[in-house]
Amino acid sequence: MQVRERKINTPGSRLNGRTVLCVVALALADSRPLREQMEQRRIIHANETPVAIKQELGQYFTPGHIADFMASLFPRNGGGDVRILDPGAGIGILSCALAERIASERWNVGSLAVEAFEIDPSLVGQLQGNLEKALSELGGRAEVVNGDFLAAVAESVKRGESPRYTHVIMNPPYKKIRTASKEREFVQAFGLETVNLYTAFMGASIISTVDGGYIVAIVPRSFCNGTYYKPFREFLLKRCSIERIHLFDSRNTAFKDEAVLQENIIIMLRKGGAQGDVTVSYSRDASLKDLESRTFPFAEIVSPGYGEQYINIPQAQRNESDSVFEECHASLRDIGIQASTGAVVDFRVKDALRKEPEDGAVPLLYSVHFKDWRVRWPVESKRPNAIVRTSDTEKMLLPRGHYVAVKRFSAKEEKRRLVASLVRPEDFKADSIAFENHLNVFMQDKHGLDKYTAYGLVAWLNTTWLDEKFRVFSGHTQVNATDLRNLPYPSAKQLSDMGRKVELEQEWSQAVFDGIAKEVLNGK
Ligand SMILES: C[S@@+](CC[C@H](N)C(=O)[O-])C[C@H]1O[C@@H](n2cnc3c(N)ncnc32)[C@H](O)[C@@H]1O
Repeated sequence: MQVRERKINTPGSRLNGRTVLCVVALALADSRPLREQMEQRRIIHANETPVAIKQELGQYFTPGHIADFMASLFPRNGGGDVRILDPGAGIGILSCALAERIASERWNVGSLAVEAFEIDPSLVGQLQGNLEKALSELGGRAEVVNGDFLAAVAESVKRGESPRYTHVIMNPPYKKIRTASKEREFVQAFGLETVNLYTAFMGASIISTVDGGYIVAIVPRSFCNGTYYKPFREFLLKRCSIERIHLFDSRNTAFKDEAVLQENIIIMLRKGGAQGDVTVSYSRDASLKDLESRTFPFAEIVSPGYGEQYINIPQAQRNESDSVFEECHASLRDIGIQASTGAVVDFRVKDALRKEPEDGAVPLLYSVHFKDWRVRWPVESKRPNAIVRTSDTEKMLLPRGHYVAVKRFSAKEEKRRLVASLVRPEDFKADSIAFENHLNVFMQDKHGLDKYTAYGLVAWLNTTWLDEKFRVFSGHTQVNATDLRNLPYPSAKQLSDMGRKVELEQEWSQAVFDGIAKEVLNGK
């Protein structure tokens, strides 16, 4: 077994140059089982590393049992060479877990090599020591590269080198990347446009993997939907098949001791793989003990009709009585309705805002103006109630009418993500109204909606089924107008049938919306 350290200089990294040698010595001297040492190291790191460093480097280490689960997903190798990549390796838990699996199952491998990239020099010594132990039985070669993984891949692509890894196992750093940043330049070297380090790492790993090679990644699920990640989804789906997805059932379970707020998934891709059915597994907690898995046709994961190539991850349980909902495939465009973000960005028009209604001002609606799916205006609140009509604000106003407003932000503890409320012409006297930017608004050609369509949309958007559908493709609490455009809708006739029934109901409730939607979809 051979371990080599290579150092590549990353311009601008404030962490380069820390000394690491004493840690190597400590790691080698420790006689406890490797896994025990690494778990302890992970917990110490989680507790002692300053939050600023964790955030700058996206340093959240994977718990051992999740690393084992990830390593277990690779199909057993059939005798060829195994070249493992661990990009952003931390202390190496992921590549060590895979090496340990290969050793314990006695895979028949030609040659074995591990390449681990880590930018933080203070981790490199432990990383080396850990790999050394994990590979001790196997006799493979490990190379630890202290430097920027993205820079290394960009360089290698520029030099025209061929992809070389057969197995990638990764928990990449998560951090937004700016438009004019070196990371953006690095990924452009292999034709990717993306907005976050984790998708940049996934892209760089895909590029560096041989055809037929596998990539197992634990990543936030935000790339599965939203316009920002569309180029990345195209990049991924063009080059890889999706073989497997694992969904943690509730928030924060994968990195619960780190207070990481992103919802994570584990995904296994195969470079150049023929796309077949996709197995999705679910776990109720981080222990990964109570797994349930189901297989779905690919068309249910990436729907051919939606255009955005959203990656939908179906929920664990499918309720058979909900099958009528699954038959709704109309798009907003099909039913001639538009959804957009409220036009008033309040800090840009401060002078026009009014706390109280007054002559020359029209109602301005914020989230505070909605309760129990209806308008209550004006209200006593920190928010203004009105906006003055001026040549600047005129274009932000809409004629009085029926609209449906959906909050863009729901609190994490709120039960639902989609909360839709009805706006009626009789709610105001003024001839125009305006919506603030934290709301999405459904309208028709910059006017109000047909009355019953508006009532029907309130019922539809507030159904339990649609909220669950929304969660399937959205990992975050925000509801964007694009997300609303990409949801499925019933036909225009079904919507107005729902509207007629909802209007007759004195008291609205979740049960009323669910019941009416189901009745109409069942043709009653
Ligand atoms: C989310 S942590 C995961 C660490 C390890 N893979 C694990 O699962 O425990 C990401 C790691 O990537 C490293 N990192 C961040 N930016 C990097 C870069 N540009 N190149 C190489 N490593 C980087 C961080 O220092 C951190 O150790």
